[in-house]
Amino acid sequence: MFDDKSWYKEAVFYELYVRAYKDGNNDGQGDLRGVIQKLDYLQELGIDCIWLLPIFPSPLKDDGYDINDYYGILPDYGSLEDFRDLVSGVHAREMRIILDLVINHTSIQHPWFQKARLDRNSPYRNYYVWSDSNTKYAKARIIFIDSEKSNWTWDEVAKQYYWHRFYSSQPDLNYDNPEVRAEILKIMQYWLDIGVDGFRVDAVPYLFEREDTNCENLPETHAFLKEMRRFIEKNYPGRILLCEANQLPRDIRGYFGDGDEFQMAFHFPLMPRLFMALKQGSFQPIEEVLEKTLPIPEGCQWCIFLRNHDELTLEMVSVEEREWMWHHYAPESRMRLNLGIRRRLAPLLDNNQQKIELAYSLLFTLPGSPVLYYGDEIGLGDNIWLDDRDGLRTPMQWEPVAGAGFSEIQPGKFFNPILDNLDYRPERLCVSIQIKDENSLLNRVRRMIKVRKKHPELGSGDFRWVSSDNPSVAAYWRTFGDHKMLVVQNLSALATAAHLSIGETIPIVAEDLIWGKSIFFQNDQIVDLDLTPFQYFWFEIPFHLN
Ligand code: GLC
Repeated sequence: MFDDKSWYKEAVFYELYVRAYKDGNNDGQGDLRGVIQKLDYLQELGIDCIWLLPIFPSPLKDDGYDINDYYGILPDYGSLEDFRDLVSGVHAREMRIILDLVINHTSIQHPWFQKARLDRNSPYRNYYVWSDSNTKYAKARIIFIDSEKSNWTWDEVAKQYYWHRFYSSQPDLNYDNPEVRAEILKIMQYWLDIGVDGFRVDAVPYLFEREDTNCENLPETHAFLKEMRRFIEKNYPGRILLCEANQLPRDIRGYFGDGDEFQMAFHFPLMPRLFMALKQGSFQPIEEVLEKTLPIPEGCQWCIFLRNHDELTLEMVSVEEREWMWHHYAPESRMRLNLGIRRRLAPLLDNNQQKIELAYSLLFTLPGSPVLYYGDEIGLGDNIWLDDRDGLRTPMQWEPVAGAGFSEIQPGKFFNPILDNLDYRPERLCVSIQIKDENSLLNRVRRMIKVRKKHPELGSGDFRWVSSDNPSVAAYWRTFGDHKMLVVQNLSALATAAHLSIGETIPIVAEDLIWGKSIFFQNDQIVDLDLTPFQYFWFEIPFHLN
């Protein structure tokens, strides 16, 4: 797989927040040396590609998504040498690594902005978007509605307003300026030369602004993104661009272009529907969103996910759906943030292992490459009392000790407190306990990843629903060449019976790859199966019978 240009189609991704992962120098902050120590763990988990949240120098008003210097490493995280060692360590284990590339905005402290605000004649003035009034582009929505009242902020030094789609400490770059566009390619080149395997490109819909539009998904934005892709294809074939565009299905589809823009994009519309399906005990929300998901060009792939480092976004669902999600998944007001829910996977799913496993079964078998968020493989909890999204970014729990094996320094000095809730504290929930328990969530996730890697139908195969008269039973075929798998899952908290018309004409015995259960398919094309609450099966159909 290592030389295959389509590696990302079969890959399992892991989103890693360096500050929270492992402290290599015992200062209470995770760092690159710490991540290096944990590469064997990631390899054993079966991860193919690590996505690092931003690692660049930053005043950390938005956890590194506010960059000061695109060419350095945040000193808390280590040095460029450490980064090079990390890249070699990753590659030596036949894994890959991608970086977060934040191109929509910089930090207000970036020297470009500092020069721009001081001097109207500086070439950097035109790196940002200025105006004498705060009324332009009025159709653009505000994204961080809990903290920002406008996309314009007055700058006392510059004596003008500057444009920002996120925090006011993150001024947007001016993509109408060809020098800005050239800077981005230069930054890409720098990290690609160091050996990274691509980028998760942050907040791409907002690069250009045009009056009388919502300033999202504009043709000019697509044109520049295509230029980024051409640059990669020409100079670094095999490296990838992964699109972060929290948009409606048809708009996200646009970011694949004709196969000449992003190779990958997050399937934002699917994610909340997975939670709806699990709460309703019905596959309908998933079916509906997959129906709306337009086919994507050859060579492209969705990235699907359950949770990430941000609030569980409900920006792109209807008002009624949002209220429903809030009602069921965020009953306390502290659980809500902007238009979303700041909770992790395990607490959202009642810390019910069978239900969490089922969520993973969906993640690993629906079309797309799965992205795991660090800690969710062990069912890490959250802390809704911390600021902003910090409660989703607490230290990884490795050992059943007070400091969770994250750092040797006293926990009071950690960048974020360790979880102290009885169910989620490290003495109860950590990697080393789960590794020893063959029925732990961690070992189930490992098992699922292992099976997935042997079955290309899950990464690259076709997807077809199996008709079922029971809405609780999500059953589908995944097929690729000779490979064929029947996935059957009970989305309900109640035991149920599946009565499936599988469309097979021959009697066959199929084996479930997770539990080892065998099943006999009758030649009347109907399968009857009893399922316990949240039970899932992945049946392999033997080759010779295809
Ligand atoms: C993306 C990131 C989020 C960040 C924002 C601004 O949405 O995922 O964490 O705050 O961009 O850069």
